[in-house]
Amino acid sequence: MLRDLYIRSMALMERLPADSYLSALPAVRALEGPGLVFHRPVTFLVGENGAGKSTLIEALAVSQRFNPEGGSRHFSFSTAATHSELHSYVKVVRGAAYPRDGYFLRAESFYNVATAIDDLGVEAGYGDQSLHRQSHGESFLTLVEKRFKGRGLYILDEPEAALSPTGIIRLIRRIAELVERDSQFVISTHSPMLLTFPDAEIYQLTEEGVASVPFRETSHYRTTLRFLQHPDQAIADVLGYEIEDD
Ligand SMILES: Nc1ncnc2c1ncn2[C@@H]1O[C@H](COP(=O)(O)OP(=O)(O)OP(=O)(O)O)[C@@H](O)[C@H]1O
Ligand SMILES: [Mg+2]
Repeated sequence: MLRDLYIRSMALMERLPADSYLSALPAVRALEGPGLVFHRPVTFLVGENGAGKSTLIEALAVSQRFNPEGGSRHFSFSTAATHSELHSYVKVVRGAAYPRDGYFLRAESFYNVATAIDDLGVEAGYGDQSLHRQSHGESFLTLVEKRFKGRGLYILDEPEAALSPTGIIRLIRRIAELVERDSQFVISTHSPMLLTFPDAEIYQLTEEGVASVPFRETSHYRTTLRFLQHPDQAIADVLGYEIEDD
């Protein structure tokens, strides 16, 4: 397990232009003052759709010289330069050790990464098949189980996107192995299963600000639990009908 994290903190180092949409995002406001301080090998970012998690995580990845569309530090392809300018306004404090491995994964553009891997002909390390000949979830698991080697900084944006619940369990196991092998993860997620990862720190980003919370206090866990414990009642409430007693 890492004693000194690769990334210790991330904060705004200068004011964003007042008319920038970025200034209003909960995730960006979490970078004011001391910003986000990383205390654990695994840090999760949770928040509603549009809170700015992907924007933040992309700026972190770009600041660490990952390609904004995803991949390792070796990929420098670009299909669309759509990343925000946030990375120019943040300061990321690194630890003493330099990661030997690393990956920035964004579910939204994983297809492009698979294409780049094929184009480069670097299938070694990605399973026997081109990632395009595997399903979305299969190729993702191949990537984390075969390509992620340890001693790495892994920045993942909604890694659960393609995974079944059993796939998420495989991902949890693999994260634990890589943490044992001196890795650090920063993960944005909507998955309550993933949030149960032991000793992780969870930053919840809301309009009220950022708070470090235990997984049972995240809105993701609470909302999902309510549905799974009382599904008939939960869906009736959502759709606005009464349940008839037998
Ligand atoms: N160029 C832009 N101009 C104005 N607003 C933008 C621009 N790009 C992104 N946004 C807005 O920034 C907000 C944050 O987007 P972001 O993708 O970071 O959210 P998120 O927290 O990752 O959401 P999700 O959980 O849905 O993935 C969104 O409301 C989006 O519409
Ligand atoms: Mg997102």
